[in-house]
Amino acid sequence: MKQIMTIDLEAGGQRRYAVYLHNMKYDGKQIHRDVSRNLLAHLVSSLKPDIVGIDNLSEYRKIFGILPKGTHLVEVCRTVSGTFRGITELAREAGIPVTDHPNPSVAARILAVLILKGYGSVARWSDKKNKIVYHPLDWIDRSFQSHLKEATAKEFQRMTNKEVNNPSDLVNIFAEIGIIDEYYSIGKGKEAEIFLTSMEPFGRIAIKVFYKFSPSTKSFATPSLSSNDWRKPSVLAAIESRHLRFLLKRGYNVPEVYHREGPMIFMEGIFNSDGSRAGTLSTTDLRKYKDPIIYFDELMDTLFQMFTEDLFVHGDFSPPNILIQDGEIRMIDVLQGRRWTHADPSEGLISYPDAIQILKSDVTSICKHFRQKYRLVIDVPSIIEEFQKASI
Ligand SMILES: Nc1ncnc2c1ncn2[C@@H]1O[C@H](COP(=O)(O)OP(=O)(O)OP(=O)(O)O)[C@@H](O)[C@H]1O
Ligand SMILES: [Mg+2]
Repeated sequence: MKQIMTIDLEAGGQRRYAVYLHNMKYDGKQIHRDVSRNLLAHLVSSLKPDIVGIDNLSEYRKIFGILPKGTHLVEVCRTVSGTFRGITELAREAGIPVTDHPNPSVAARILAVLILKGYGSVARWSDKKNKIVYHPLDWIDRSFQSHLKEATAKEFQRMTNKEVNNPSDLVNIFAEIGIIDEYYSIGKGKEAEIFLTSMEPFGRIAIKVFYKFSPSTKSFATPSLSSNDWRKPSVLAAIESRHLRFLLKRGYNVPEVYHREGPMIFMEGIFNSDGSRAGTLSTTDLRKYKDPIIYFDELMDTLFQMFTEDLFVHGDFSPPNILIQDGEIRMIDVLQGRRWTHADPSEGLISYPDAIQILKSDVTSICKHFRQKYRLVIDVPSIIEEFQKASI
């Protein structure tokens, strides 16, 4: 998303408008006062903003006629379920300082900030239903994602028909068409290369690009997939993003997934609040934040909850795959995660004994780290026993 345009009716009963423009790519902001209806129509059709925002539709019935394809109309004061709230009330709730009756140009600016804070619903004219239909604001992200798909499909196919050996070529496609900003690689793992960049409307993102078959991953291969499929980087990306979304839904602190395209996962970039990249458990001295025991307990709690409540094992729960963001734990690299069952394993599930084996290696790798780096005294077998007791 690059540009938001918000509109408020000027006082005085004539059809004149205050128009606020926020170009997010360059953080450029402009305000136009006393704009006529014709000029407004011209601005909308020539600038083609991603979002046109208004307080409520009743004063703008004809607006659908001037919206270019791809421009979304957001009714800021309306929820999807149809309740309305005043702009000052919303602004105060969102922490935006505001007087009781802001003038139209201030109101237009507030509308833009409210949209960025997630207020409002997307109004669309449906020819099929012959009426306006409403969507939640995050619908824009989803329709943006379909735009992303469309825009890249051709080049993407050309690239992925070949074996993907060079992830940066792939990432570069997205940079060339302006979907992401400048990007840089932060390293190559066993099966993927990770890039950091920024992309509106998400901000800083990480792109994980799978580039080759990994024999180490195969031991955890889903039985329903042939080994041939395992050579496909796209399949690996699909599996990891499915795991991330599952864990996210269950409330774990994994990065949010925005989009998956072929072998690439576009996800939340994990940075510290000072802008530096988050370190990992291996590279961070936890003592500068909290007692390492607190981290150890939290990591074990996470494993415990995943194992017993969500029947999920991480499979690669090791210090480089635990990020420390402003002193808080974030978990990544969940490709090898598996769900387990007490029943006969099928459809990609694994058996309880197999799950215990994987769990043991996850617990052991964390314990080893805390023992060596922080001299914690840990009894691994009794931890495993606790897990077993809780899962029978
Ligand atoms: N969302 C993210 N935000 C910031 N940094 C990330 C993110 N995801 C991964 N990284 C960085 O990239 C490194 C590698 O990521 P990841 O573990 O997902 O890939 P991998 O190919 O499995 O790597 P490896 O084989 O080394 O385990 C991480 O240790 C971390 O430093
Ligand atoms: Mg890793």
